[in-house]
Amino acid sequence: MSRSVYVTRVIPQPGIDLLREHVDVEVNESDEPLSAEKLRLRAGSHDALVTVLTDKIDSAVLQSGEGSLKIVANVAVGYDNIDVPAATAAGIMVSNTPGVLTETTADFAWALLMSVARRIPEAQSFLRTGKFQGWGIMMMLGEDIHGKTLGIAGFGRIGQAVAQRATGFGMKILYYDPVVQAEDAARRLGARSVDLNTLLRESDFISVHTPLTPETRHMIGKEQFDLMKDSAYLINTSRGPVIDETALVGALKANRIRGAALDVFENEPQVHPELLQFDNAVVTPHIASASVATRSRMATMAAENVIAALDGQRPPTLINEELSNG
Ligand code: DGY
Repeated sequence: MSRSVYVTRVIPQPGIDLLREHVDVEVNESDEPLSAEKLRLRAGSHDALVTVLTDKIDSAVLQSGEGSLKIVANVAVGYDNIDVPAATAAGIMVSNTPGVLTETTADFAWALLMSVARRIPEAQSFLRTGKFQGWGIMMMLGEDIHGKTLGIAGFGRIGQAVAQRATGFGMKILYYDPVVQAEDAARRLGARSVDLNTLLRESDFISVHTPLTPETRHMIGKEQFDLMKDSAYLINTSRGPVIDETALVGALKANRIRGAALDVFENEPQVHPELLQFDNAVVTPHIASASVATRSRMATMAAENVIAALDGQRPPTLINEELSNG
């Protein structure tokens, strides 16, 4: 009997090619996010779904797949778009793509950090709009990075990779993570575990690397901005709702912090309109893991999860372990 997988958006070809060697594959070639109704229909008519973070896989979608759908393979490390308990209740496996995007995302967090501290987008626009009329000693003064304190909120794989890079800049590293046990990595990297308030008070750069959970939603709001140095920079490559975007706008307006660099937003693809007005807010469209190699590897990893699930094996990066059939 043939097995079929529905891929909800266009993904890198290596993932599609791998799937095609094993199963029938249908791809949403329009690359437009599917409506809730279409997602429900696809869940009910295929053995597997390959999804991305713009697909809301809620209990209604999962119930449509109950009895036929074996796996939802998300092409992302984050899986806050999927109701995992509802998937488990419906007997549907869920997988993600951890590990393969760690270094690429850490590179990008650093690109944002350096961009905002040294005002690179602002300087480029200054030059491109003809404002560079001659060198000036006071022109575009930014902040040093070397020797400063980096506070990492969320010290999992990506947070640690960001810390690793900070060692090359001679930075003091603080981290906050109430979940991950990271003593060995902390020792290796010379990072000190602190509570969130201490991290906010002492850091010159604060980089956020937590998953989005009920506990981390709005983990950084007005109260937290009020604790930060007025010279602090906030960088976010995790999930937008971890930061209260309205409070961030308030903090930037009031010069409570020196700047922010954000790859993720509370209501993507919308961005708080006022955020776009600040020269000291660097904004990018959720591309931290977007290198050719990494996005291809994420796609093949999702394909490997699908193939394993449909072959009756344990998907390599299964999230709801209780459904392991290997
Ligand atoms: C992820 O993997 O969770 C990113 O946000 C998308 O690549």
